[in-house]
Amino acid sequence: MDQKKIGMIIGSLREKSYSRKIAQLLITLAPATLQTEIIEIGQLGLYNPDLENNLPAEWQSFRARIKSCTGIIFVTPEYNRSVPGLLKNAIDIASRPVTENAWKGKPAAIISISQGAMGGFGANHHLRQCLVFLDVPAMLQPEAYIGKVNTLFDENGDFSNEDTRKFLNSFMKAFEIWISRFNPYKQ
Ligand code: FNR
Repeated sequence: MDQKKIGMIIGSLREKSYSRKIAQLLITLAPATLQTEIIEIGQLGLYNPDLENNLPAEWQSFRARIKSCTGIIFVTPEYNRSVPGLLKNAIDIASRPVTENAWKGKPAAIISISQGAMGGFGANHHLRQCLVFLDVPAMLQPEAYIGKVNTLFDENGDFSNEDTRKFLNSFMKAFEIWISRFNPYKQ
């Protein structure tokens, strides 16, 4: 089967990150046409334009991995009503040089998570603002704000909320349709 490569970017470095757990669950729910893989961003170091002349190897391989993907799924917590600096830093790194914006044309989807009730709405929409500039069509519906995420796991740390599992399953199906609308946007 012809599978489309989907890069999953996680906006948290925390060992027991709920964002990572949700990303891992999404991988198990992905339709057969999608080959999902987590692309790590914790090793990148802070973006500094001066380094474009002496490119860190981590930036080079990160940009190449983003370019190799058909689509991107962001799973992120909210920090101070926005995206964590970690995630913004990774977005910036793959956006340059401006003529080689690695994100350009990659259909994407966003899932924000929060232990609070608002589900990371602020992070979700700040991220959308960046994606508009980067020419990344971010899926419109369903929106995914996963609130009270800490209540969705049992005492062993396993995901245990069937309604949210069903929702995330339908989210992945919608994403499969979404990316098919943009192929071959930039293939
Ligand atoms: C937070 N947290 C948080 N939560 C929220 O709903 N809105 C917010 O604005 C913030 N701000 C914030 C700032 C900083 C610096 C930290 C460290 C935390 C809580 C945070 O979203 C929560 O701890 C998540 O569980 C973190 O995601 P991971 O690490 O579980 O994926």
